Amino acid sequence: MSGMALDAVGQSVPLTERPAWQALAAHQRRIGTLHLRQLFADDPLRGERLVAEGLDLYLDYSKNRVTDETMLLLQQLARDCGVAERIAAMFDGQPINTTEQRAALHVALRAPAGTRIVTEGADVVPQVQAVLAQMAAFAEAVRCGDWRGHDGREIKNIVNIGIGGSDLGPVMTYEALRHYSRRELHSGSISNVVGADFAEVTRALDPGETLFIVCSKSFKTQETLTNAQAARAWCLAHFKDEAAIKRHFVAVSSNTDGVAGFGIDPANMFVFWDWVGGRYSTDSAIGLSTMLAIGEASFRAMLAGFHAMDQHFRQAPPQHNLPLLMALLAVWNTNFLGIESVAVLPYAHYLKRFPAYLQQLTMESNGKHVTRAGAPVGVATAPICWGEPGTNGQHSFYQLLHQGTRPVACDFIAFCQPLAPLGRQQDMLLANLLAQTEALAFGSAGMAGQQDDVAQPWRTCAGNRPTNTILAPRLTPHTLGQLIALYEHSVFVQGVIWDIDSFDQWGVELGKVLAQRIIAELAPEHAQELAHDSSTNALIRRYRQQRLA
Ligand code: F6P
Repeated sequence: MSGMALDAVGQSVPLTERPAWQALAAHQRRIGTLHLRQLFADDPLRGERLVAEGLDLYLDYSKNRVTDETMLLLQQLARDCGVAERIAAMFDGQPINTTEQRAALHVALRAPAGTRIVTEGADVVPQVQAVLAQMAAFAEAVRCGDWRGHDGREIKNIVNIGIGGSDLGPVMTYEALRHYSRRELHSGSISNVVGADFAEVTRALDPGETLFIVCSKSFKTQETLTNAQAARAWCLAHFKDEAAIKRHFVAVSSNTDGVAGFGIDPANMFVFWDWVGGRYSTDSAIGLSTMLAIGEASFRAMLAGFHAMDQHFRQAPPQHNLPLLMALLAVWNTNFLGIESVAVLPYAHYLKRFPAYLQQLTMESNGKHVTRAGAPVGVATAPICWGEPGTNGQHSFYQLLHQGTRPVACDFIAFCQPLAPLGRQQDMLLANLLAQTEALAFGSAGMAGQQDDVAQPWRTCAGNRPTNTILAPRLTPHTLGQLIALYEHSVFVQGVIWDIDSFDQWGVELGKVLAQRIIAELAPEHAQELAHDSSTNALIRRYRQQRLA
């Protein structure tokens, strides 16, 4: 593969001026109005050809508004943008997170023991394996009742305290793999800085049977530390003995001093490293609550699924490479068809938190406006990502998917074998998924024996709405690992094409700084004049008046 296109002075050529981009733009002008009805009519085997299979995942991308030529041109764009080189750089531990000068080495978290992955002169795999062993020993001790609470009782409740990647990942993986979990261990999570979240999660819990896992990479996140302090106070109100903390609190962090400062014994700390981004951390020690729920063997099976997808991503040729294909289709839809949002629609109830997880993965990674060099990107970047499980969504927002004025690209995800079979429910579920993808592609006039009634345009569904369908035999820990890694790598490739740093998140900092300032101003004793804009000043004054009413 050729490297990134450079001009005569060695500067990166703007994306839209690259020949591959311009070829795609010209191609779009030629085929942009083609309807999926036509594309399928012209090629009876389209639905069997425009598919790719890797590991347990079958990707049908035939219902995208693409031709064979589109896919070839997109692959040329990937070559032109140096995707292969950037993939190699990521796996080699190079500091591809350029604005923070560090590697993005989540692939090391699932590398088998004995693999060698070096960053900053150190092989990180032995460290990863050591933490995994520590997690496994701890999880086993809790699960078999060897780890007991302060008054000698067994732990029955696990509560994860974290936010962002330190919450969305573990909550999503726990929900996804709940079928494989030990039911005697109750799992909960607290993320939001609102007393109601804390109160509702803890109200039925017995402090003597509850273990808190405080998850924070930085151990500086205001919401998490506030909730952890509340949990500490809740625990001490029951035990009235500081010694209880070390039996009821463990921490997952890269900040040992912060953990010790909080009062958690560093012996009860599980580390991860600054080369693991928060939204890429669910397979690190941040997944401790998941391992407690499903056990070491299932957790390792999930890691093996991640790793298998890593290998697929590195080795599969472009036309079969699932993350690459997903990324290229996303770029096509976003930049050449002008589609601004992606709905992730799992027809699998256990994946109900997957869309929320992907929101952070995709939007915090690629919601960026400048290139790695700081120049304006010049094209649209991350689409807005959202979604809900089917069929629930069908009775809510699918109206807009079918007839709204702004098209939405959709990823449908389903498994053939149900984990909880019940009558014909799985057939019903899958029939709905297939019906939706068919209706979105072909519209009302595409249905056999139907013609649009021009006198009743409100009944017309235009179709031509692009969808991917991802089908797998069964939701297992291994398949889940594959699925998460599929999206991680797809997001990465999109970021490479847009030439942005997918591993930083500077945009969230400003709000954090302002909140720190405002929180002082909300205190009753605050006497200084407010110096915000007139809207913020008025809202602060109104809040102050009404908060005690
Ligand atoms: O504010 C955004 C963010 O930094 C996310 O990137 C991260 O996942 C989350 O906050 C939580 O951070 P931490 O794990 O350091 O508490």
